[in-house]
Amino acid sequence: MSFDTEPRRILSGMRPTGRLHLGHYHGVLKNWVRLQEEAKCFYFVADWHALTTHYEEPGEMDAHVWDMLVDWLAAGIDPEQATLFIQSRVPQHAELHLLLSMITPLGWLLRVPSFKDQQQQLKDRDLATYGFLGYPLLQSADILMYRATGVPVGEDQVPHVELTREIGRRFNHVFGRDSAFEEKAQEALSRLGKKSAKAYSKARNEWLQDGNAAARESALATIAGSANISAEDRERLSGFLDGGGREILSEPEALLTPAAKMPGLDGQKMSKSYNNTIQMRDEPERLSTRLMSMPTDPARQRRNDPGDPDKCPVWDLHKIYTPAAKRDELAAGCRSADIGCVDCKKPLLDSLLEEQALLHQRAEPFEQNPARIREIIETGCARAREAAEETLEEVRAAVGTLYT
Ligand code: TRP
Ligand code: SF4
Repeated sequence: MSFDTEPRRILSGMRPTGRLHLGHYHGVLKNWVRLQEEAKCFYFVADWHALTTHYEEPGEMDAHVWDMLVDWLAAGIDPEQATLFIQSRVPQHAELHLLLSMITPLGWLLRVPSFKDQQQQLKDRDLATYGFLGYPLLQSADILMYRATGVPVGEDQVPHVELTREIGRRFNHVFGRDSAFEEKAQEALSRLGKKSAKAYSKARNEWLQDGNAAARESALATIAGSANISAEDRERLSGFLDGGGREILSEPEALLTPAAKMPGLDGQKMSKSYNNTIQMRDEPERLSTRLMSMPTDPARQRRNDPGDPDKCPVWDLHKIYTPAAKRDELAAGCRSADIGCVDCKKPLLDSLLEEQALLHQRAEPFEQNPARIREIIETGCARAREAAEETLEEVRAAVGTLYT
């Protein structure tokens, strides 16, 4: 399969945490908006994923889902271009998750870093559950379902995409076997000689089951180094290395979103749990007051003390909002104490308010008329179910549960 001719398919999801903040907007949503113009995109609300950790607050889900979706639309996600849906409205995700669970070694899930990390971080919740262990596998089902080629995610999610690749490969290995091809490969293997055949098979398994790329290289080296076999055998064995069967599920790639540093209003990283966020649709007065009292370079005690933008959290916001020429001017003013922090924050506040106005404006029609967003999601879910069902038909056939 050639990568260049295959259309790109993008899938990403977000847990419904309610209203989103500027970290989400600049770190995730703007990227989604860019991608929707270039590729077939599926964006969804991962409500089941939210339940794995927040099952004790079921009453909050509904509002969180719709609030978050309004923010997506405010960001410029276009439901004509991208398919928007809610995970639990596409129950095919549950079926694929279940079927994948049959071939998922427990060890693979136990060693996903977020499993232990989150249990540590969310000590007040009981996360020693079956559902939470399965979190990354459910995510694999989300991704494999749409044959996504690219999954835009932050760094913390890369191990989950990595797991998805391994699961996809293992599924193809177990269920995509072509017995005629496999027989020929076994014959070629017997001509390789006992010792080399053993080394090849061991390396092949490590590659197919664990995704160990070094093992794949070593298997290739074993074939290349053997004088016993024909060019045809060699080709067959190198093909066999990549599964030797049909590709039922395709392996996605993580599209790492370069994270711009988004400081919160207290100078720490912007995060809901620090209560320091600027929401995508904030109150203008609240935003003004809080930005004006945001900490700056501590060296600037008085108006005449020179400062250093690199030591100032406000500066990280300027990097996002202020054009370079204007920024140079402000930086010089800060270093020479020609301007005060209030002068420096003013143009930033203007840019923020301008952006806020746009976000409020885009959200308005959906706030006025909630039925509109429900319609959009209805349509999106139907489209998603159709795409999902196509994959599942093949998956059911492969695992033997398609009864005719
Ligand atoms: N786990 C992701 C997060 O916490 C959300 C998610 C669920 C997701 N399924 C996905 C992201 C599939 C990308 C693809 O952010
Ligand atoms: Fe920060 Fe601007 Fe004040 Fe310098 S002048 S410390 S960059 S707010």
